[in-house]
This record gives sequence, structure tokens and C-alpha cells, in this order.
Amino acid sequence: TPIAVLISGRGSNMQALIEACARPDYPACIALVLSNNPDAAGLETAHKAGLATLAIDHRLFPKDRAGHEKAIDEALVGAGVKVICLAGYMRVLTPYLVEQWKGRMLNIHPSLLPLYPGLDTHARALEAGETRHGCTVHLVTDGVDEGPILQQAEVPVLPGDTPERLAGRVLEQEHRLYPAALEAYLTP
Ligand code: GRF
Repeated sequence: TPIAVLISGRGSNMQALIEACARPDYPACIALVLSNNPDAAGLETAHKAGLATLAIDHRLFPKDRAGHEKAIDEALVGAGVKVICLAGYMRVLTPYLVEQWKGRMLNIHPSLLPLYPGLDTHARALEAGETRHGCTVHLVTDGVDEGPILQQAEVPVLPGDTPERLAGRVLEQEHRLYPAALEAYLTP
């Protein structure tokens, strides 16, 4: 199944998906890596891996989210994409793109949803005194970080954890979880 990976930054989850897609038995291939941020480090990584990359800078569409998303949608359709994986894509999507790709767009979020949607999940989990934290792969619906959960992975919160240490522990699980959840999603 041809997929697109949408990124805004570092792209370590994208990298995990690239590695999974290199396995001969893996049911997805990456048709396009797309970023709203032309300076995303992940674009360079993807390019070096021989993948098609594209930046569609949202700043070129001032006050025109719909126009930006229309450009994205056209690029995705043009590349033959069937499933979208959001991986650190930091723009909130409008109902337009969500509706267009309903049931075919996945996201990874660094918390055990429905706990801690939004930003700064690790600091918030620590502040709340959680003893467990983790990450979630879910289908994208209109609400931010809502939508049916596909898979989750848990980590312990350890004494002396900082948001950074906890984030590192969660990220390790993200890199395992995303390829696994996508595989299960694509395998009937
Ligand atoms: C990850 O923690 C992901 O869960 C969140 O943003 C971060 C992106 O990291 N949505 P990367 O760009 O995949 O390295």
C-alpha cells in the first residue's frame, strides 16, 4: 500500500517507518514524504533514503488553511497515496482534509490517549504524578488527538524523570509502535 508520511520536524518516527517499509514482507511503501516546513530535518533524511519529498509551506497560504490543504491533497492524490501517516505533523487539519481521508489517516501521539491530547504531554503527565505514560496510534477525526485508537504502548514513569527522559523512553516505544500499528491496520 502506498503511503505518505507527513512531518514538520525531526522525523524520527518517519525514519522508523522507512526502516519498516524496507522489509520485503512489510505491507506499505512510502510514496511521498511531505512537510509543511521546508526546513524540516526529516525531509533531508527522506531524500537521502531515496524517497520522493515535497514541502508545501503553509506560510505561502496566509489565512488560507483550505488552500494549503487543497495543495496537500492534490500532491497526495497525484503521488498515488492510499494511506496517510502523520508523524510529528504540527498543523491542525481542517475538516476538509480529515473528511477527504476519513479512515485512511493515522497519527501517533505521545500519550496514552484519551489522556493528554495536545502539546507538552510528558511534562503534564509528570506534573499529574502519573506512574505510567506512553504513546498511541489512532485514526484521525475532526477532534485534535481524538479518533479510534489502533494501538498503544506503555512505559513506566521512573523516579527522577524529567520531561526529556520520559520523552526519550516514550519515543523508543513510538518507533516500535507506529510500524506495528500500521502493519496491523493494513493487514485484514
Ligand atoms: C513524536 O513524539 C510524535 O509522537 C509527536 O511529535 C513527535 C515527533 O517526533 N506527534 P519525530 O519528528 O517523529 O522525531
